[in-house]
Formats: sequence, structure tokens, C-alpha cells
Amino acid sequence: MNSEEIFFNKLAQTSPHPMTLEIDRAEGTFIYDKSGKRYYDLISGIAVTNIGHRHPEVIEAVKAQVDKYMHVMAYGEFVQNPQNLLAEKLTSLLPPTLDCCYFVNSGTEANEGALKLAKRVTGRTEIISCKNSYHGSTHGSLSVSGNETKKFAFRPLLPDVQFIEFNNNQDLNQISTKTACVIIEPIQGDAGVRIPDQNYLKALRARCSEVGALLIFDEVQTGFGRTGTLFSFEHYDVVPDILTVAKAMGGGMPIGAFISSKHNMSLLTHGPMLGHITTFGGHPVNCAAAMANLEILTENGLLSAVEVKGQLFEELLQHPSIKEIRRKGLMMAIEFDSPETVQQIVEACLEKGVITFWFLSCPDSFRLSPPLNISEEEIRDSCRLIIEAIDLTGLG
Ligand SMILES: Cc1ncc(COP(=O)(O)O)c(C=O)c1O
Repeated sequence: MNSEEIFFNKLAQTSPHPMTLEIDRAEGTFIYDKSGKRYYDLISGIAVTNIGHRHPEVIEAVKAQVDKYMHVMAYGEFVQNPQNLLAEKLTSLLPPTLDCCYFVNSGTEANEGALKLAKRVTGRTEIISCKNSYHGSTHGSLSVSGNETKKFAFRPLLPDVQFIEFNNNQDLNQISTKTACVIIEPIQGDAGVRIPDQNYLKALRARCSEVGALLIFDEVQTGFGRTGTLFSFEHYDVVPDILTVAKAMGGGMPIGAFISSKHNMSLLTHGPMLGHITTFGGHPVNCAAAMANLEILTENGLLSAVEVKGQLFEELLQHPSIKEIRRKGLMMAIEFDSPETVQQIVEACLEKGVITFWFLSCPDSFRLSPPLNISEEEIRDSCRLIIEAIDLTGLG
């Protein structure tokens, strides 16, 4: 079998039409295929490589940790320096009530842990989430995701889950003393970059506090600088009770976390003991990578340049066929008149050597989430190619 046959037959597929780019290597803003063709990676592997591919400091941290030890024990038993350093650094960058980290392997796992923690803290079962939200693909996260077409085949899912409309203050009245938690993306990602009104998250926070429900911010996609601050909730002057993160956390390595107060987290140690466990969560190599990633993001002015770069993208992506650009920092949705148009443009972009991608719940837009350290020259060149790709489709 050739490599494409193996890919299609020996690897489980997730869709009938995968992109099938055969990867040779990746570096900074670029991915190279087996033929040597270079592609601008303007989606960062879906909001993962916020510091570009194979950042040398991450590589160095990974190598140094591999030379000492890899997996030694399931999470939570041994004292491992890479976990300690990362937890200390991460909590130093967060509000004082988010002072305790539970490390996991992915975004969906972070949300699973957060939902369990909210039930344990409140003794309640009702979970409220938002329509069109995406929180992951495992049973719990899928249950609180708002896209029915992805859910119907897997019912029954978690009971006692209600949905409210994102950014609708009226709907906040549904949050009651029965509610264990509200889980929300502060800026909805896979709904097509939906940005809340400035007062919405404050009103949500107030309602949760009033009825004793925990507020979970899912920053799996928005975290680690994507919107121009380390976490997007910083734009809104609101602090959640639980924060979930993953994706860009490890600088290209798989790691996630749910973060809350020490008081809340201590409840997972009893009633029952081992209330949440994972073998690989907090893998030392991935923690070392995440620590390097955090240092890169916070120590060289990278974040303060994000908004300026986002504005440049917006300025350069002018075309009569673009209906709207929704953007916070370098998290962008480019909207057209139909899903078919988006399909054509994504394909034409790939031809031109630019990787863009769809959203799960917003077919008339494509996403851009480039590395935060993309250069001005790279932005100008890649936007030129996107405009050429749009023109190729005969629009406008
Ligand atoms: C907001 C949000 N939460 C959770 C997830 C799930 O993360 P993972 O794919 O790492 O399980 C995603 C993935 O796209 C996401 O965007």
C-alpha cells in the first residue's frame, strides 16, 4: 500500500473528505508537504501552534526533559518538577482564586474534569451551556455542546443539560439555584468567532454568583494569547470559578488543564477518594514544553503585538465578496454568502499555498488563527494569496 492507501484504510477517518496534505516538515508559520510545496499555516493546527511550529525553546525543553525522565507514575502521586514549575508559573499569571491546576491531556478532558468538579462543589446536577457551543467530543463535553447534528446519533447523553442563547441577557434567568454550573466559551470559537457584548459576561458572572452556580470558562481555543491577552476573559474583567485550557498550552505538545481554587480542587481527594484520575495527565515532557511556551508568550512582547497584526489582516482582506470579518486579536472568521463559496475558497487557498479551515457550526465562514509570531511580511504575502484565491473562484 502507498501512504495514501494506508491513511485511508488503516487509519480511522473523521470525514469523507479529509485534506490529505502529506506532511514532510513544519517550521514557524510554514508546513511543507512531501513534494516540497510550502504552505502558510494560517490556522495553527486549529489554534495550537500559537508560537509557530517547532519553536526552538520548546524543542530544547522537550529534549532536556526526555533526557531526565518521561512517564513515571499516574497523575497526582509523585512530585514532578516540570508539573510544579508549570503550576506555579500558570497560577502566578491568573487571578488569586484560580490558584490550583489539574493537568490533563486535551480540551475535552479538561471540560470533563471541570463539569465533575462543579457537581462535586455544588452538590447539584443541572448544567447550562450555550447554543452553538463546542466543548469537545467525549460524552460529557458532547452533552454540553450545542450542535445537535453532531449529537443525535449518540443519545442518550448526560441528563439535566439546558441550553441558553449566547450573548442573550434575558436567557440568564434560566440559571437558578438548581444549576451546578454554566460552561461557556467567553468568545465562541466553532460557532464562527462570536464575540459577546462587553456587559454580557459580567451579567452572567453576577447571575451565577447570585444563585451559587459555578462559572466555567472554556478557553481551550481562546487561551494562550489567541485574542491578544493571555486568556480572553481578561478583556471582560470577569473571573470564572473554573478555567479550562488545552490546545496552545503545550506549544505543540498535548496538554490541558482545569484550574480552580485550592478549596474546590481539594474536594476531588475525598467523597470519593480519587474523584478524578488520569494516567498521563501532566506528562512531564508536555509540562516542560508548556512551561517554555508560557515563557515565550509572556516574556517578549508577543501578546501586545497581536491586536496590531489582527488589524493588518482585516485591512488586507478587503474583497467585495467578503460579507463580514469577525475578529478578536488573531482569532478570525471570514464570512461569505454561502457554504459552497467557502468550500471553493478554502480549496483555492490550499492550491495557492495557504491553509485555512472550516468551523464546526458556521459553514458560511472560514477560520484564520495564524501563529501569534507571524511576521508582517508573512501576513502581507499570505493575505495577497487569499485574495488571489478568492478571485480565482470568480467571485466579486
Ligand atoms: C472551545 C473548545 N473546547 C474544547 C475543545 C476540545 O478540545 P480537544 O479537541 O483538545 O478535546 C475544543 C476543540 O476545538 C474547543 O474549541
